[in-house]
Amino acid sequence: MHADDVVDCHVLVIGSGGAGVRAAIEAAGSGDTVLVTKTIAGKGGCTTMAEGGYNAVLRKEDSCEIHYEDTLKGGAYLNDPELVKILVQESPLRMDDLIRWGAVFDFTDTCEIAQRPFGGQRFPRTCYAGDRTGHEMMLTLVERLDSTGVTKLEEVTVIDLLKEADRVAGAIALDENGSIVVITADSTILATGGGARVYDVSTNSSSGTGDGFAMAYRAGAELIDMEMIQFHPTGAVYPYDARGRLITEAVRGEGGILVNRLGERFMKKYDPDRMELSTRDVVARAIATEIAAGRGTPHGGVYLDVTHLSREQIETRLPVMLEQFLKFGVDIRTEPMEVAPTAHHIMGGLKITPECKTTLPGLFACGESAGGVQGANRLGGNALADTQVFGKRAGEFAARAEKRVKKIDPAQIAKTEERLNWFLSGTENPAKVREELQHTMWKGAGIFRDEVGLKSTLAVANRLLQAPIKATSQRNLADCCIVENMCLTATLICRSALIRPESRGAHMRIDIAQEWDAAHSPCGHTFIAKNREGIEKRKVPA
Ligand code: FUM
Repeated sequence: MHADDVVDCHVLVIGSGGAGVRAAIEAAGSGDTVLVTKTIAGKGGCTTMAEGGYNAVLRKEDSCEIHYEDTLKGGAYLNDPELVKILVQESPLRMDDLIRWGAVFDFTDTCEIAQRPFGGQRFPRTCYAGDRTGHEMMLTLVERLDSTGVTKLEEVTVIDLLKEADRVAGAIALDENGSIVVITADSTILATGGGARVYDVSTNSSSGTGDGFAMAYRAGAELIDMEMIQFHPTGAVYPYDARGRLITEAVRGEGGILVNRLGERFMKKYDPDRMELSTRDVVARAIATEIAAGRGTPHGGVYLDVTHLSREQIETRLPVMLEQFLKFGVDIRTEPMEVAPTAHHIMGGLKITPECKTTLPGLFACGESAGGVQGANRLGGNALADTQVFGKRAGEFAARAEKRVKKIDPAQIAKTEERLNWFLSGTENPAKVREELQHTMWKGAGIFRDEVGLKSTLAVANRLLQAPIKATSQRNLADCCIVENMCLTATLICRSALIRPESRGAHMRIDIAQEWDAAHSPCGHTFIAKNREGIEKRKVPA
């Protein structure tokens, strides 16, 4: 085995969801730009599956200050305030880009972009295209990308970052036949999305496997707040194959209510002011509590009911939900849905500056692979905005790098070959390893956590990380690398969760009695890198 192909470029973008494609569009024109994706551009990531919407301040009654405050409060004050400021200020501009490039969002009768309420927001600021907002965005972005001259390498799986001393200088990948492709670059952008697939029940597409976190960690980058996993309150509970599939927050935004088996609208016990439009951490815990207390539905969820809404509202605003449930044999116009929490989003990720620079020279990160923007709990609708705001910034700042002659260190390629040969002589079925990891993570590092559970989950994840996974053929090598990335990502989540001695946002430690609330927490970001890990101290606000 050897590097069969070498590609050189100015900017390399890894990942083809909303952030990656936006970054590539921005970098195009500054020099050769390559976008590499293990799927097909725009089809594989999680953005295309995002349903509910995109947050932007568009009305004079709303303001960036309110969006900023909502985001910090929703994020349990763990967000990086500078990044949040950028998010709220630039999100409307990036919305303009999308509209200019042809995205069709829903409009009001008075020809303004329509906005719906989402959880934790004091103003209805979530723009939408029915309940297929991400899909509309990706169609638009990929069409734009195709007009820019960016080279797309599709079905090519990046398996490690290429280093030149401390600097990231591109990536090592496998093509669809399992042959090595080396891509050298002046700047490399990680836009690989999240990794909620490390859990048994998840909204993520099959590509949400934490590859960016794992590759960056191996390369020596610092990650923050990896314990912060968002469990979306409403995922499908049946049929078995559809478990975890996203039931958009837009259902509640349009007026849907949550009811337990006894017919009680239980959110009044957990957040009487905001009810179903409380933040996701609160709603997910409320649903999980109702189910654990035996007040769940026959399929192990709670009811999400829109039968009081007009047929027209359901048919026009929630067409994907309607169609999806009709396929399961449920007509949501006349019957309630059954829903339960599902692993959805990783708020933590690579530590970045406002220019999307990571702690490694030459490496940038944006979208869900970066941490700090969303704090300890993301508001619904802020992820799509994040992809566009920080995708653009990553592309813009990465493109400014000086053009250099790159040197490939043959020892690194040899090390990769050694890793791949290890898989070829492995013994463990990768599907079994993945399944054990997902079940263990769901049980021990889920919505409610304690030290004992986290430690035993970490032990399993560490064991699986060392397992000799077997590649049955060269074409199967990428899958083995991905399973290894999932195991490593799981260890980062558990280690970070053990480091944070408090409950905050999505991280609920049931074994810790705590004297402070989120706004007065003495804890800052957890950080984790190859050679250091810990938690920052925060000056406690008076
Ligand atoms: O519920 C949803 O439609 C998801 C939106 C989001 O995660 O921002």
